[in-house]
Amino acid sequence: MITRSGRHIDPEDPVWILNHYRAAEVHGAGAIMRMQRLANTTRLRTDLSRHLRDEAVHAWLWTRAIEEFNGEVVDVDEPYQAVLAAHYGIPKTLNDMLALTLVSERRGLSEYEIHVDQQGLPKAIRRPMKAIIRDEQWHVSYIEDALREQAKEDKGVHQLIERAEHADALAIEELESNAPV
Ligand SMILES: [Fe+2]
Ligand SMILES: [Fe+2]
Repeated sequence: MITRSGRHIDPEDPVWILNHYRAAEVHGAGAIMRMQRLANTTRLRTDLSRHLRDEAVHAWLWTRAIEEFNGEVVDVDEPYQAVLAAHYGIPKTLNDMLALTLVSERRGLSEYEIHVDQQGLPKAIRRPMKAIIRDEQWHVSYIEDALREQAKEDKGVHQLIERAEHADALAIEELESNAPV
């Protein structure tokens, strides 16, 4: 199975995909930690703290799942994040980071939602994934709220979101065209 972000899910090799999930969560935690420094309200600082906690917990849940399969925890590249950033350009402001976080959170959530519906998914994957999906839904919704708040002061926010959505679409197109069949 090829996911929308160009990942090849081999049902025979859960450790491979779990390592990719783990790497994406670790990457997400790093991005939230960087964004935290630019937060401009108590609400956003509070939400980003909870978000940072969640991504670290998710990385740990996938680490534990890899161990349950007696797999090796390895560092893997995050092709989606790198290609997304290449298409968007260097994020300079809080609103750039929020817009990029919105599209990558939506992308991550949709990958998990596709995967969780797969038949015969081992319990060691389904159980943490269900809990993680609930957190990811909250991430998407609070980032949407934060961007709505920011848009009251800065009308350019809508364009940033469109730019991030366009970068996401280009990234997926690029990854799908390079994906193994
Ligand atoms: Fe996560
Ligand atoms: Fe997330």
